[in-house]
Amino acid sequence: MRKKIIAGNWKMNMTPSEAKDLIGLLKDGCNTDNSDVVFIVPSIDVTTAAECLKGTQIKLGTQNFYFEDKGAFTGEISAKMILDAGGEYVIIGHSERRTIFKEDDAMINKKLKKAHAEGLKPILCCGESLSLREDGTYKAFIEEQIKSAFEGVSEEEAKNTVIAYEPIWAIGTGKTATADEAEEVCKMIRDCIKAIYSEDAGETIRIQYGGSVNGSNAKELFEKPDIDGGLVGGASLKDDFIKIVNYKA
Ligand code: PGA
Repeated sequence: MRKKIIAGNWKMNMTPSEAKDLIGLLKDGCNTDNSDVVFIVPSIDVTTAAECLKGTQIKLGTQNFYFEDKGAFTGEISAKMILDAGGEYVIIGHSERRTIFKEDDAMINKKLKKAHAEGLKPILCCGESLSLREDGTYKAFIEEQIKSAFEGVSEEEAKNTVIAYEPIWAIGTGKTATADEAEEVCKMIRDCIKAIYSEDAGETIRIQYGGSVNGSNAKELFEKPDIDGGLVGGASLKDDFIKIVNYKA
């Protein structure tokens, strides 16, 4: 039985002081018995957030890092910095990083390998644009994203990766994929991992859905057999996130 993983991607929201308030609002309400719950915060909030989350089972992560150890990479942070500050997870290849910051598949592959090498738990994002959805080539596109991200990644590392399927047309738009649409692609991704590695790897890896998840649609999505939780943007910044985490209640 795969444990669900529900992560809030705060994106570029919340100063450290605001992070304190938001964590204060959310932490007691989130039931961590059945799911891993992760707050993915701006890097500058990690130290404050780690302090605020002490004594809870809620885990912490950041939204990006760079694959080098240290040096002349102005503006970047390393895996070791995140871990030392109390972070445990990192998002890799979010569509906003791919489109706005021009991260390509080769960089995403390097980041995935480096995260594993350093013991940082990656949440690898994939997903198609509206035009690929409409012209029907989205499955082949996502398969390519997965194959290239996992190039040179061992089976053990693959099992410890979380994949987030996030159709770009559903991110921040209020237009959620239907539970059947999300399930179709999450199952296809699982089959792809089985084909690359093994039946066991495919059954072990956790695959989230992301894109306008909220307190009203979480249950239907998360109850699908191949959807192991969600990556939540907008709704992770308010108490609706508690409803999402406690979707069974
Ligand atoms: P959203 O964002 O929930 O606001 O659609 C999801 C994401 O981009 O991770």
